[in-house]
Amino acid sequence: QANGNSQAGAFRSYEDDRNTASQQTLYTTSNGVPMPHPYETQRAGANGPLLLQDFHLIDLISHFDRERIPERVVHAKGSGAHGTFKCTNPIEDICLADVFSEAGKSCPVSVRFSTVGGESGSADCARDPRGFSVKFRTAEGNWDMVANNTPVFFLRDPAKFPHFIHTQKRDPQTHLGGGDDSTMFWDYLSQNPESVHQVLILMGDRGIPDGYRFMHGYGGHTMKLVNKAGDWVYCQFHMISQQGTKFLTNEEAASKSPDYSQKDLFQAIERGDYPKWSVEVQTMTAKEAEELWEKQGINVFDLTHIWPHKQFPLRKIGEFELNENAKNYFAEIEQIAFNPAHMPPGIEPSADPVLQSRLFSYPDAHRHRVGVNYQQLPVNSSRTSYRIGNFQRDGNMAFYNQGSRPNYLSSIEPISFRERSVDLDKVHGQFVSEAVTFLSEIRPEDFNAPRALWEKVYDEKAKARFIETVSGHMSTCRKEEIIKRQIAIFREVSEDIASRLEKATGVKGYDGIKNLNFNGTHNGFSKDHKI
Ligand code: HEM
Repeated sequence: QANGNSQAGAFRSYEDDRNTASQQTLYTTSNGVPMPHPYETQRAGANGPLLLQDFHLIDLISHFDRERIPERVVHAKGSGAHGTFKCTNPIEDICLADVFSEAGKSCPVSVRFSTVGGESGSADCARDPRGFSVKFRTAEGNWDMVANNTPVFFLRDPAKFPHFIHTQKRDPQTHLGGGDDSTMFWDYLSQNPESVHQVLILMGDRGIPDGYRFMHGYGGHTMKLVNKAGDWVYCQFHMISQQGTKFLTNEEAASKSPDYSQKDLFQAIERGDYPKWSVEVQTMTAKEAEELWEKQGINVFDLTHIWPHKQFPLRKIGEFELNENAKNYFAEIEQIAFNPAHMPPGIEPSADPVLQSRLFSYPDAHRHRVGVNYQQLPVNSSRTSYRIGNFQRDGNMAFYNQGSRPNYLSSIEPISFRERSVDLDKVHGQFVSEAVTFLSEIRPEDFNAPRALWEKVYDEKAKARFIETVSGHMSTCRKEEIIKRQIAIFREVSEDIASRLEKATGVKGYDGIKNLNFNGTHNGFSKDHKI
């Protein structure tokens, strides 16, 4: 044991810190010196100025001054809890990940749910996608699934992401949020028609989940699973709520408290009503992916599309339950840092460009938001079956700095290496198709899935609510041209949506998108389209 840890009063461990009751503690300054009176300042005489020597006061106030860390640039408002994943149906045939190798194998998980656009104090019941992140602390390192509650996303070109997110942030001059002015939001959507599938989901009945327990989670991106022989398949992860799904109407959402979802999750876990999700996977061979592109125009590297479930059925792997609330929200939920690049052997990224950008973006954000040694925080640290060794040293708050071991790969005192589990050259052989380079092109296939949603899934009442929501939202859009363009995009989905919206907004939209220019290159229906 390190010196500090062997002293009775010292901070002993993460669990000790989490579980210490108030009665077991003594009020001290940050250096541990007992302070008999917390509300006393030292001053010169009875009414004179304060003394700089009053360490207690300076200690107290200067720490208070630094309590805030930057909030997440997206997904700032969130809730979370801990629990356990258990493998029920091993998938060794397609994946070598230890955690999926045996029925009954389990690992601790921590989950964080969130809204996307709002600030850290914003309303839980916003019409917004929900984030659904899971940290699986497997015996071979952490695997983070950083997912959403919708199977598709607004874009397939990562360069668009910061721009799209900015449309939902406060106006640089007026400082007004989207609730007062939806112009930027619709401007973006009307310039980027590949978003329309997600728009149909967001503005429809599934746009406001009833808390976090009643929603599914979707990895969204195509990933790869690799087995012991080095053979790989593409895959998509799904987290299916065993509570089922429930959503709120606009009216119901407006009547809820800003912390509705936080309260619902916390209280359910407190009363022992533990929410559960099953983890399932769709898989596809590289050949099937080529065929899907050639025959159905669906590119597996394009997360504005889903993989048809009939062709690619779900296969269950296991389930997780959330059975423990955080003891300390900041330490365990605010400081938790998810990263789609955290993958154990057996799970690999695909060439999806949005995924590839995210692999860079998240750890970059964590180094800024939490600090370079964020992985050392207990909530982020792994629970491996071996002792971790590497040569990442020093930096701010290097709490575990790996002792006296040499800080380079020394031949005198070597550390161990595991043998390669698979041949990486084989694993990195990729399906590369035309669409990877023509990322922004809008194609007729982009409108098939939203059309099916409108025609086959939404009933008459759902359609009426959709039109009411969209036209209501558009009422704060300051430019008619934007609405005309957006109606044209909806017309590609269905003439029915366009004509209903024209009636509701009083704006006559364009006939279709054929003659419109969109953001990005290769963005028209016709090959000879010029921008
Ligand atoms: C959070 C970037 C797309 C799901 C974040 C954060 C960043 C980011 C910087 C804040 C991280 C932090 O400070 O801890 C991006 C970029 C994207 C992208 C650059 C595209 C180019 C997506 C997609 C999904 C997603 C497609 C879902 C499929 C999430 C979730 C969180 C998050 C769930 C919250 C994580 C948490 O609970 O801490 N994203 N994102 N993002 N993102 Fe993305």
